[in-house]
Amino acid sequence: MPDTDVWATWLRTGRDGGSARMRAENLDRLAKLRDRILDRAGIRPGDTVLDVGAGQGLLGLGALDRAGEQGRVIFADISEPALDDCRAEVAGLGASNRATFVRASATDLSALASETVDVVVERAVLLFIEDRQRALDEYHRVLRPGGRLSLGEPINSWMGRDRPGYLWGYDVTEVIELERKLHDVDRAESTTSREDVLCGFDDRDLVAMTRAAGFLRIEAQTDMALAPPPVRDDLDVFLDTAPNPLAPTTRALMSAALNDDESDRFKRALDRAMRDGHGERRHAVTVLRAWR
Ligand SMILES: C[S@@+](CC[C@H](N)C(=O)[O-])C[C@H]1O[C@@H](n2cnc3c(N)ncnc32)[C@H](O)[C@@H]1O
Repeated sequence: MPDTDVWATWLRTGRDGGSARMRAENLDRLAKLRDRILDRAGIRPGDTVLDVGAGQGLLGLGALDRAGEQGRVIFADISEPALDDCRAEVAGLGASNRATFVRASATDLSALASETVDVVVERAVLLFIEDRQRALDEYHRVLRPGGRLSLGEPINSWMGRDRPGYLWGYDVTEVIELERKLHDVDRAESTTSREDVLCGFDDRDLVAMTRAAGFLRIEAQTDMALAPPPVRDDLDVFLDTAPNPLAPTTRALMSAALNDDESDRFKRALDRAMRDGHGERRHAVTVLRAWR
């Protein structure tokens, strides 16, 4: 196993607490969004496709099929271990001759020459980047005239906003003072202004920045949904998950913020809310496509 970093750690275990069941649920949910982003990208056989912030290759692996034997997929990410995961998957598909792996930030794709890519795809990357305009400028630069951008970004400014007494949508207002302790420790320990970056944009900003990057035709759709959170019986798995790669797990927050008695009370309240599916979970994603 190669050295890992926050990104690969989260992709490998942090988003599912190491549970095969939760991993399968996550991938099933993401498959719909993957197909939507790839469908909207209009990938043609022979295209060169760039997957920015490829992670473990959700989009890029799907794009390999669509670009066909004459096409090529460039997997780009700042995380080398994540790229290692992509390399392994691509090798398993026998497609290594049609893939390239580039360690690069979305804000500096200088490893790629201008106007050399037919399609740029990405999902859940811009939200982690402070200078989103620069990333979109880079997407525009590497695309050939007539090239397409297709992306999907969660809109945390709506769904991720702090709601006292709720944890990932589960209603734990009966122990709100404990939930606030977790929240305060999380705030105090986050090294950067994480929430400000993650929540610092909405769908209109994405359209405006895409236009400012030079794209002439842009279409965006935002889906917003609000519903009770899913019924779950796997509290321990849940405690070992984190909502995003930059956030600690709930278990880590509990050990930093609560004593043993408080932890027990908090777990009991959370377990009840999970088993009842009690609360309100929000979901918002913008899909955007643009033509150069
Ligand atoms: C939430 S994951 C999404 C991964 C993948 N796109 C997917 O849909 O499964 C975010 C990814 O963005 C990458 N990332 C974070 N900051 C980045 C940056 N500045 N440039 C490129 N990639 C970045 C991380 O390494 C991680 O793989």
